[in-house]
Amino acid sequence: MRLDVVTIFPEYLEPLNVSLVGKARARGQLDVHVHDLRQWTYDRHNTVDDTPYGGGPGMVMKTEPWGEALDQTLADGYDAGAQGPVLVVPTPSGRPFTQELAVELSERPWLIFTPARYEGIDRRVMDEYATRMPVYEVSIGDYVLAGGEAAVLVITEAVARLLPGVLGNAESHRDDSFAPGAMANLLEGPVYTKPPVWRGHAIPEVLVSGHHGKIARWRRDEAFRRTAANRPDLIERCDPAAFDKKDRETLSILGWAPEPGGRFWRRVEGVEE
Ligand code: ADE
Repeated sequence: MRLDVVTIFPEYLEPLNVSLVGKARARGQLDVHVHDLRQWTYDRHNTVDDTPYGGGPGMVMKTEPWGEALDQTLADGYDAGAQGPVLVVPTPSGRPFTQELAVELSERPWLIFTPARYEGIDRRVMDEYATRMPVYEVSIGDYVLAGGEAAVLVITEAVARLLPGVLGNAESHRDDSFAPGAMANLLEGPVYTKPPVWRGHAIPEVLVSGHHGKIARWRRDEAFRRTAANRPDLIERCDPAAFDKKDRETLSILGWAPEPGGRFWRRVEGVEE
């Protein structure tokens, strides 16, 4: 997969040299190109922003540097044999970044990121490139960052670990929380490793029982417990067809009950465990 990032802070993308993404680059699984947007400015101050039409606070990133940067980036990529680019524009106004979108992006051969600073990029830039390629405006969460670079790091890491051969074990992402089609989209429960007792805290006995069925059941119950506590919305959204008899029992103990349509809703706040 080829990745291009156009930014006014190329050094912000240094973490792309480290860990999983760094190794994927070293192995040739990811071909990363970081570009300084100011290369495509021609005034003394390397201006990339200007005041917004219509007034209001802050500054807006100008069309011309982005246009030249993207034209050149596309031309270079095509020359190098890349194909099928998509533009990924991090913005708090974008669609939510989810595991499903990570999977979709991981299936594309070439991602071009345009992280913005200030109040964002002049709309006409996205409109122009949308005539030539898919444009994904993506938000990594309901909070506002000072710029899109951190979002590029987040999206890249989530996508890179899905590429064939990047994670040692191909099964590792099958059970991810949020994996499309995963256990009815429950959060993963807790995990333990040696030693069996640490500062008086013992691991749950079932995990050393050797009984695979019981272990699987325990893990699923823990997944329900954690999801009910941290993301009750995920349980409300679950298709109840995904629940077996024991799931229903566990949900009932956690204070959930089916409504007439079959979906589960929390009966009362904070009932007994
Ligand atoms: N830029 C600023 N805030 C952002 C967010 N939440 N997601 C993506 N890009 C952003």
